[in-house]
Amino acid sequence: MSVAEKKYAGKAYNSALEKIEAALEARRGALVLAKMEARLAEEALDVTLPGRGRGRGGLHPISRTWRRIEEIFGSIGFEVADGPEIETDWYNFTALNNPENHPARSMQDTFYVDLNDAEGKPLLLRTHTSPMQVRYAKMWVERFRHAEKVPAIKVIAPGRTYRVDSDATHSPMFHQVEGLWIDEDVSFADLKGVYTDFLRRFFESDALEVRFRPSYFPFTEPSAEIDLQFGAGPLKGRWLELSGAGQVHPQVVRNFGLDPERYIGFAFGSGLERLTMLRYGIDDLRLFFDGDLRFLSQFS
Ligand code: DAH
Repeated sequence: MSVAEKKYAGKAYNSALEKIEAALEARRGALVLAKMEARLAEEALDVTLPGRGRGRGGLHPISRTWRRIEEIFGSIGFEVADGPEIETDWYNFTALNNPENHPARSMQDTFYVDLNDAEGKPLLLRTHTSPMQVRYAKMWVERFRHAEKVPAIKVIAPGRTYRVDSDATHSPMFHQVEGLWIDEDVSFADLKGVYTDFLRRFFESDALEVRFRPSYFPFTEPSAEIDLQFGAGPLKGRWLELSGAGQVHPQVVRNFGLDPERYIGFAFGSGLERLTMLRYGIDDLRLFFDGDLRFLSQFS
């Protein structure tokens, strides 16, 4: 092009370029805006709507009892232990002086697992927390194997237990707490003191009478059933059975790995459902396991 032509064509070129760029810019802006508007419309949030609210959960009444028990016994120096719900025949029965074919076994019919233990006996769901006495004591004795004296064994073991039983006062799964205190001089009087004090604190009342009624368990001698009588309230005057207990049988102390001539003490086993029913005035045990929020929310 000649110089004059170049001048003319350059101007036209530049002005076309500007127009194209402006058009592109305008289109880009419109697209971004449209995209943002679409997104705003889609994610619209009406901040004036009331909130959705959040239901407040609460502890199950059995959990409340469980915690109270740990708290009360913890405050007087008891450790808390837990152990397997699937147990061997030896720990659940034999070690507790409950030999095979002994009639006391039939009081505790349980569920069996399709697996055998090292002795070839089927594993079972524990019928009580008492096997924890033997598990904990053996572990403790082993730990102090070289000591001149095995320090006091002072433990509670709360947990789930199982029996073939089902009605208004029995459930195939329920909860117990086992207690064990073994030393050189722990007596039946200590059992009475500790357990009575526990009940007064658990029910937050000194207006309680506690009775130790002679009974039989293979793993204690002497054995007692602990009964409770309220001095006030709807159950006033009635005796209610709460717990098994006794002085640990010499054969069981031997199974702990201790010399029964030197070490002595007590054990007890109490039902958490029973304690909870009495504390809150609940008359049907099945309510604990139905999962009905109208019942459960009363405790949260
Ligand atoms: N294990 C017994 C039961 O479930 C309760 C029991 C009785 C536990 C006496 C004990 C005890 O520790 O000493 O029926």
